[in-house]
Amino acid sequence: MKKVLVVGSGGREHALAWRLAQSPQVAKVYIAPGNSGTALVGENVDINFTDSINLLNFAKQNNIDLTVIGQEAASEAGVVDVFQDSGLAIFGPTKKAALIESSKAFSKELMREQNIPTAEFKSFDDPVQAKKYIKTKEFPQVIKADGLATGKGVTICYNFLQAEQAIDDIMVRKIFGESGNKVVVEDFLSGQEISIHVLADGKNCAVFPPSQDHKQIYDSDKGPNTGGMGVIAPVDLIDDSQLNAVVEKVVKPALTGLAEKKSQFVGCLYPGLMVNNQEINVIEFNARFGDPEAEVYMRLIDGDLYEILYSCTRQNLQPLKWRNGYAVSVVLASAGYPGSSDKGKVIHGINEAEKMPDIIVFHAGTAKDGDNFVTAGGRVLNVTAIGKTRNEAIDKAYQAVKLIHFDGMQYRTDIGRRLAPQ
Ligand code: AMP
Ligand code: GLY
Repeated sequence: MKKVLVVGSGGREHALAWRLAQSPQVAKVYIAPGNSGTALVGENVDINFTDSINLLNFAKQNNIDLTVIGQEAASEAGVVDVFQDSGLAIFGPTKKAALIESSKAFSKELMREQNIPTAEFKSFDDPVQAKKYIKTKEFPQVIKADGLATGKGVTICYNFLQAEQAIDDIMVRKIFGESGNKVVVEDFLSGQEISIHVLADGKNCAVFPPSQDHKQIYDSDKGPNTGGMGVIAPVDLIDDSQLNAVVEKVVKPALTGLAEKKSQFVGCLYPGLMVNNQEINVIEFNARFGDPEAEVYMRLIDGDLYEILYSCTRQNLQPLKWRNGYAVSVVLASAGYPGSSDKGKVIHGINEAEKMPDIIVFHAGTAKDGDNFVTAGGRVLNVTAIGKTRNEAIDKAYQAVKLIHFDGMQYRTDIGRRLAPQ
């Protein structure tokens, strides 16, 4: 029997650990550092997700058969490199391959080199030059911190004052730390966003059904960007032939571009796309499962997840199988999110919600206080439902949401609802 280590602490890692624990081959799942939800499906290990050496020592001492990276900061910190150097099986990209997400300037250059359709852009390491460039452009313009910023490093600017503020926040006030050493200034794309996920083993790749996240904090896409407030899958905003075109014109050139730089990509590649009628552009590449996309995909993927992810680390990717139907995940967030968020509020109703058929509540920012679960972060819970139709899944998810409560709880009421009923 196999032992698995999942690296990360969000709803995505709870979903991955939950699904891996169902594998008939898996005896035990460890999660580093995990959260109070992952503790329900495995054993949490108190090691930070960027602490490569202690993660490696733990994996060696406990004879871990497969390590699965959830959190992007782990790949950026080089956890995969350290494991590979020691010959341990690990699912996720090396530090160099992860640059496709961890540096937006690198990622946009790669897209330019490989003719991947994306918005016109320029990168700057000097705020004065960035502002000078913006003066030559039409609004809206999109200002992005170069490095990782948990989905919050992007501002859509409708006038020069907003753009100036965004550049100063990132480059002068350094609100995202070193991630703000450079900015990317990019033309605005309109349309509907979709998330594509692909498993890549260094040779082959396999695409998931497309999904849709809802990035802004409020209904109808109002308010600031978050890490993601809710996902539905599958979505039919692109048809099969467009999905094939995305694999040929976006995914494969990106994988080829990385391989040409001796940074072969193994893991989950997740391009975010903007779809506007027939026009499809890449907004960004992520080098890991989306969160909350993973919560939805783990409800829909069929077969043995251990086998699938392990095969990926051995250049022997297995074909993927999917259950019929739809899955939805609604994020419940703390007051203040995506800014600073409340902590320590008692959460009521998780058990009642999970008694409903087809509901699983994945934990993100939760902690235990005696017998209670309490809030411990911005995104707190992911209420996920499956259904035979899209509407059935959405209705079930929101019925379950109604049973859960904590002070200041905020969530969107329109997840999946902008799509035509199906
Ligand atoms: P990113 O971190 O690059 O994915 O950006 C986060 C979010 O900002 C995206 O999911 C979009 O909602 C929005 N965004 C980023 N770039 C653009 C763009 N060029 N045009 C419109 N919206 C964008
Ligand atoms: N779903 C947004 C993200 O994972 O970046």
